[in-house]
Amino acid sequence: MEKDLNRKVRQLSQLQEDWSNDLFDFTPTETVVRVKDAGRPEKPDLVPPKDLPRRRLGSKEGHASLMHSIAHIEFNAVNLALDAIYRFQEMPYEFYRDWLGVAGEEAYHFQMVREHLNSLGYEYGDMAAHDGLWMTTYETDHDPLIRMALVPRTLEARGLDVTPPMISKLRSIGDKRGVEILKILLRDEIGHVEVGTRWFRYLCEQRALDPFEAFQQIIRDYFHGDLRGPFNFDARQQAGFSDEEIQWLKTIQ
Ligand SMILES: [Fe+2]
Ligand SMILES: [Fe+2]
Repeated sequence: MEKDLNRKVRQLSQLQEDWSNDLFDFTPTETVVRVKDAGRPEKPDLVPPKDLPRRRLGSKEGHASLMHSIAHIEFNAVNLALDAIYRFQEMPYEFYRDWLGVAGEEAYHFQMVREHLNSLGYEYGDMAAHDGLWMTTYETDHDPLIRMALVPRTLEARGLDVTPPMISKLRSIGDKRGVEILKILLRDEIGHVEVGTRWFRYLCEQRALDPFEAFQQIIRDYFHGDLRGPFNFDARQQAGFSDEEIQWLKTIQ
């Protein structure tokens, strides 16, 4: 719920320290509240995706705008990892360990991208952004199975597909630091999707569901729009997508 960027990052390090000192209390809380607005600073303004200006990467503003949108995703990703820890209270110990690790990496990503954005003359909040990532998080707050399928395995997995082309674009405009940062993000995001996949399969097993069928069913029932390629099959495979799922994605790309 913390709105201040710096305080949020500090509090997250405190959480990680508390975790390593075994200070977490796993007693379920009596009520779990829905979080329509997670803690975020007043800026950026949130607008519908169609209202976001399209800028060319070749311009200085376009370059910063790409970094700004990545910073926004990373910031939201901190909230969504922490939300999974707070909300899904009946999971094994390792679930919380995994998502706290993800939260820490997202905060590190956010800071790295934010610094790079600063070096281009902008601050996080200077441009508009959209709230799609959090809305999907909110809409999947009733069931960890649906959350795992749609947030890490669909939205974060989309990041695996679109990052390599972004790396090429940044390389083409000579942004070496940007290329370096995006490579780190891609490597770590494979891990986050893998965490999502692992817990998705765990929950399927617990409910005697076929993971391949369950995933498709959830996409049909809950995902706004269609899955879109081109897909990064190699990264998705590393992130735990099964051969069956890869074959299926090949039919819709
Ligand atoms: Fe990230
Ligand atoms: Fe992530």
